[in-house]
Amino acid sequence: MPPVVEIRHVSQHAGQEVQVQGWLFNLRESGKLLFPLFRDGTGIIQGVVVKKAVAPEIFERIRNLTQESSVRVTGTVRADARAPGGIELDVSDLEVVQQIPSEQPYPITPKDHGIEFLMDHRHLWLRSSRQRAILGIRHEIIKACRDYLDDRGFTLVDTPIFTPAVCEGTTSLFEVEYFEEKAYLTQSGQLYNEANAMAVGKTYCFGPTFRAEKSKTRRHLTEFWMIEPEMAFAHLDDAMDLAEGLVASVVTRVLERRRGELAVLERNTAPLENCTTPFPRISYDEAVMILKENGSEIEWGGDFGGGDETILGEHFDRPVLVHRYPGAIKAFYMEPDACRPEVALCVDMLAPEGYGEIIGGGERISDYDLLLKRIEEAKLPRQAFEWYLDLRRYGTVPHAGFGMGIERVVAWICGLDHVRETIPFPRMLYRLTP
Ligand code: 4AD
Ligand code: MG
Repeated sequence: MPPVVEIRHVSQHAGQEVQVQGWLFNLRESGKLLFPLFRDGTGIIQGVVVKKAVAPEIFERIRNLTQESSVRVTGTVRADARAPGGIELDVSDLEVVQQIPSEQPYPITPKDHGIEFLMDHRHLWLRSSRQRAILGIRHEIIKACRDYLDDRGFTLVDTPIFTPAVCEGTTSLFEVEYFEEKAYLTQSGQLYNEANAMAVGKTYCFGPTFRAEKSKTRRHLTEFWMIEPEMAFAHLDDAMDLAEGLVASVVTRVLERRRGELAVLERNTAPLENCTTPFPRISYDEAVMILKENGSEIEWGGDFGGGDETILGEHFDRPVLVHRYPGAIKAFYMEPDACRPEVALCVDMLAPEGYGEIIGGGERISDYDLLLKRIEEAKLPRQAFEWYLDLRRYGTVPHAGFGMGIERVVAWICGLDHVRETIPFPRMLYRLTP
């Protein structure tokens, strides 16, 4: 039996007989020759079938193969500069695992389909080269984030998904009926990260988070994945340094290891090559000035809309850190600036090329009395926050961190115009299936 080889490794077997397991991607016929393209999730290889070189039933079997039928192919690997990828497979045998009947063909054909059709067939659409490229880059981004934090002494500590407490405002909460008290799906692991940081110093969590936002934009999912580092004995500047280093290293890693996927997506890599540190850092005040100069209606005190984030992101040639927003438009836990209590020691990172906010975070209130006051002002149920207040009762320290939305980063690095393609099975206001 010839060895089973993944298509990405086939070129290492020139001159040898191998077996490839996969699916028929495409089939071209030219007289006494067949040119089937096979894919196996690691690559695509062109087979060559010469009529007089194989048994007649094998030639017919291959000639009748339908798109996405599953197969085991045996053949000899031949280097050929004209072939896609520089190699071809001279097919000697093919076993059909499942032949898709032509009366019920694979629904996604090489012709153009509308986005709703593709989203309805997301479970199959994932097999396309484009989606596979996005999945590969998503994986690389996640791995790069984890490596960056692991290499700097952060401990991954998982945070719960069912929570009794609000983190990011009551308008986007998913309520869950089950527990005796009110429960929600988590909006962020941050509050638990703060407890974990007091236990291990530097921590991060990485998991799904939920927002019941009624927004239907190209940047919003109802379920998205967030990586959230948190550090004890840290201030706003430490969070900004970490955010900058993390994002720069993620971009570098994708450029190093995922050129092929970026090419499949026809991503212009020049703006990514440019994402070297330091990133510009501006205050909210400066951001408002830039926005006004560029036609925004924003007034000091207002939150940035999607359009404002786009203007700011396009104003700079790499990610920009915007710090010290008015406390009134930020979450209850933000530490006020001692020199200017009306602004919070918070930061958002906005991606270039109009991708908007990819990171939000900052320094947390460490004082018990102030935190209690903010919980009461926000009319949050104190009972649900008693454990969180304990962190300020027992050995409180300055601490800071942030959350980075993985899908926003994938959309930006891949150059996609909507986050729906950045996650295998997106959940949005009008999308629960597949
Ligand atoms: O700015 P946000 O709401 O911050 C927090 O949740 C903090 N508690 C995180 C922390 O400090 N540990 O969300 C952080 C990031 C945003 O910058 C964005 O990248 C992403 O999460 N995000 C979303 N991504 C997709 N769809 C949504 N609906 C998102 N909401 C936030
Ligand atoms: Mg935010």
